Amino acid sequence: VSFDLGEYMKARAAAVDVALDRFLPAESEPPETLHRAMRYSVFAGGKRLRPVLALAAAEAVDALTTPVLPFAAALELIHTYSLIHDDLPAMDDDDLRRGKPTNHRVYGEGLAILAGDALLTEAFRIMAEAAAKLGKQQSRALQVIVEVAQAAGARGMVAGQAADLQAENAAPDLPTVEWIHIRKTGEMIRAAVRAGALLGGARADELKRLTRYAEYLGLAFQIADDILDAEGSVAMTGKNIRRDQVRHKATFPAVLGVPAAKERARELVTGAVHELRPFGRQAEPLRAVAHYAVGRARLQ
Ligand code: IPE
Ligand code: IPE
Ligand code: MG
Ligand code: MG
Ligand code: MG
Repeated sequence: VSFDLGEYMKARAAAVDVALDRFLPAESEPPETLHRAMRYSVFAGGKRLRPVLALAAAEAVDALTTPVLPFAAALELIHTYSLIHDDLPAMDDDDLRRGKPTNHRVYGEGLAILAGDALLTEAFRIMAEAAAKLGKQQSRALQVIVEVAQAAGARGMVAGQAADLQAENAAPDLPTVEWIHIRKTGEMIRAAVRAGALLGGARADELKRLTRYAEYLGLAFQIADDILDAEGSVAMTGKNIRRDQVRHKATFPAVLGVPAAKERARELVTGAVHELRPFGRQAEPLRAVAHYAVGRARLQ
């Protein structure tokens, strides 16, 4: 039987959504607008790629039964915060996200900033509470929390976002573009895969391979995102990135041109999938996710 990624992602995303709903404050809880703003973006229809990667990585190693869902949900909260802030007028100034008006367009800039702040902070509460409940697997969960903080923080995603801002209109070179992409997008994807692998009880050699898989995939994913921003329809992306923004940003298509950027993304996916060979059938979801993540950008 061939593997059905659509079904797989739907099932995993549904489980993640139940967890997210349980962890977030109710809309009826004051201050209602804050909690509504948080839920608005979290349930706006994201692909749940990072939680799915965490769950799929745990399944690929599958040695322990540590609960992965709270960590998967936390990754999505951090990702959603990063998108809310990324869309703000002071950053990319976008008005559509996940097919809906951006958070600040609906709730105003002040609440959008605060909703992001709250999502980021709640993510670490959720992970810390989950870790506190664990027995002998606790040290792995603590390692995950440290790694997620590193991936999201001043040397990770935020560093990438800062460099992305500074590179605007600066005609950056390829090494700079890679540096930015590895951080602004790659770090969280790497942390998602490693979180699942660590919580799943991966051996050292398995963790190494899955880490390399994630590093290839993270870069490929941002290249595909840039190509989609440049070529894709609003219906495909749920965003209406301004074409002038695409040109003025540090993107792979801007530096290499679209054909070479597509070639690079294909090579990276091949590299990612190659790392999964020793895992056999159990890594089928990770394999399919890698092809899907860049397949959206019609690389063929
Ligand atoms: C978009 O991420 C921003 C990037 C880091 C490239 P996704 O494409 O995963 O966005 P959602 O979560 O599905 O909305
Ligand atoms: C966003 O990169 C990366 C993060 C939010 C960390 P982009 O600015 O390219 O993402 P989109 O295109 O707005 O989703
Ligand atoms: Mg941006
Ligand atoms: Mg953006
Ligand atoms: Mg983009």
